[in-house]
Amino acid sequence: MGRKNYLKEVLSVRRPFIAGNWKMNLNRRQAVELAQAVAARAAEFPHADLAVCPPSVYLDAVGQALAGSRVGLGAQNVYHEASGAFTGEVSAAMLVDLGCRYCILGHSERRHILGETDEQINRKLLAALGAGLTPIVCVGELLSEREAGQTAAVIRRQFDGSLAKLSEPQMRGVVIAYEPVWAIGTGKVATPEQAQEVHLDLRKLIEARYNSGTAQAVRIQYGGSVKPSNAAELLSQPDIDGALVGGASLKADDFLGIVAGASN
Ligand code: PGA
Repeated sequence: MGRKNYLKEVLSVRRPFIAGNWKMNLNRRQAVELAQAVAARAAEFPHADLAVCPPSVYLDAVGQALAGSRVGLGAQNVYHEASGAFTGEVSAAMLVDLGCRYCILGHSERRHILGETDEQINRKLLAALGAGLTPIVCVGELLSEREAGQTAAVIRRQFDGSLAKLSEPQMRGVVIAYEPVWAIGTGKVATPEQAQEVHLDLRKLIEARYNSGTAQAVRIQYGGSVKPSNAAELLSQPDIDGALVGGASLKADDFLGIVAGASN
């Protein structure tokens, strides 16, 4: 174990957490087969927490395929209301009912394609926590924002807005995913230094609002073109605690290759 990872383990209880975001891909048979393939080998990676987040219509089938394994089930979105006349939406309680443990919130595709705001994401976050889900809240700057030197300001604005109104215990129960928008699905990965810088900024924001213990407890994933060949270097950074994986999570070998990278 390298010195950085040794310190990570000694100074905190942050277990690596690798989650696959399947987005709007696969059919039911493919989703079940992928879940089975990941579940079959998950026991080889006891050092990390694992989750897969299939399209909502396949949550039930994938949950059954994962049963008895150490792979958690996650949704990609939720609605903030508990129940009622909200055609097409799914509540946090419904996700829990299906066996979900996690829920991705504020993914850049929802922010920038579906127009989700920090305020909406915050309402979803409070609903998810209220139902007992572990939210994975995504933040990240556009390429134009990075080029204009606004990365830190954008991350602060998203942190302040999306992660508002959380008690300290609630904050500890949240996973944050830093996903630079320019790195998502582009094959252009942030350098470990670029990612580490933002992860540290996020930890400082948590410390300023709460305290250093909470800042050290929160897990912060990196997302954006993570693959087996770059995972170990990214995950060896002191403030990177895991990965939110899109494209590479659609192949069991690639996804598990990334998980393997979390141990080096
Ligand atoms: P990618 O997607 O790994 O395909 O870049 C990451 C994400 O959107 O979570």
